[in-house]
Amino acid sequence: MAEPGRSCPRHYRYSPAVFARPADLKAQSLYIVGGLYGNPFALEMVLDLARREGATAVFNGDFNWFNVDPAEFEGVNEAVLRHAALRGNVETEIAGEDSGAGCGCAYPEWVGDAEVERSNEILRRLRETASAYPELRERLSALPPHLVAEIGGLRIGIAHGDAESLAGWQFSQETMRDRPERALALLAGSGVDVFACTHTCLPVMQDFATPRGSALIVNNGAAGMPNFRDTRFGLVTRIASTPSTQALYGTRLGANVVEAVPVRYDHEAWMTRFDRVWPAGSPASLSYRKRIASGPGYEVEQAVRTGTHTGSLSRTA
Ligand SMILES: [Fe+2]
Repeated sequence: MAEPGRSCPRHYRYSPAVFARPADLKAQSLYIVGGLYGNPFALEMVLDLARREGATAVFNGDFNWFNVDPAEFEGVNEAVLRHAALRGNVETEIAGEDSGAGCGCAYPEWVGDAEVERSNEILRRLRETASAYPELRERLSALPPHLVAEIGGLRIGIAHGDAESLAGWQFSQETMRDRPERALALLAGSGVDVFACTHTCLPVMQDFATPRGSALIVNNGAAGMPNFRDTRFGLVTRIASTPSTQALYGTRLGANVVEAVPVRYDHEAWMTRFDRVWPAGSPASLSYRKRIASGPGYEVEQAVRTGTHTGSLSRTA
């Protein structure tokens, strides 16, 4: 039996073939919001972005994490659950009884033991907060683990992790760099044109040649935390027929664009809120404060892996 935080529970798994179904949702344009991590300022910005262009927002999991304060737990969940939403490992763990999976992250070997233990501790705190909200837990538990969307004929598979597990790491930037053949097999097996995911904390957009034609995996990293060195914005995935003026990078797929759009939330306000709930020495402060303050050691150039199989890269910022 794997230790808590390292395992991938059986009920987290599904077959890539589940994505070969008629679309659950048809939209003009989509904002796919993964890894909000309980940041209410990022939530406000994302909803504003979507509202301004009449786009549909889909929250693909881990919208909870740092929001252990009861009022914030309630606020974030009430707001997110008005939109299309999927369960991430965090929602799955706080909605159910303690299954021994810890945070349910299924952390790979390159994530250290101390960090995994701190994640389990954050999850324990969040579970304690959530226990006072049985009705919200019920609604979280009823959320699906995957969704198929369609924009003008483009089929989009959406999940929290990868095409076979809601906490899978096969669509992480590390695995897609080192073992792209594994990602390609899963992508081809899902039969979608675009697979949108999150969970693994760092963004990547990578194109593949599948038997059906060009296809793309897009991982938005985190909507609620910085994703690149010396930056202070989150990132969401946008899919639409016309490009956004705000995209950081993107690519064209047929008649549509798939883009990474910055979420420029109020950084100072979020730092103040974070420090109040997670003071120095707390598990979240030790694991995440540096990243929230100035981003991880990761560059935009590392995330963009398009142009080899599909249309050219169109950087607009
Ligand atoms: Fe996750």
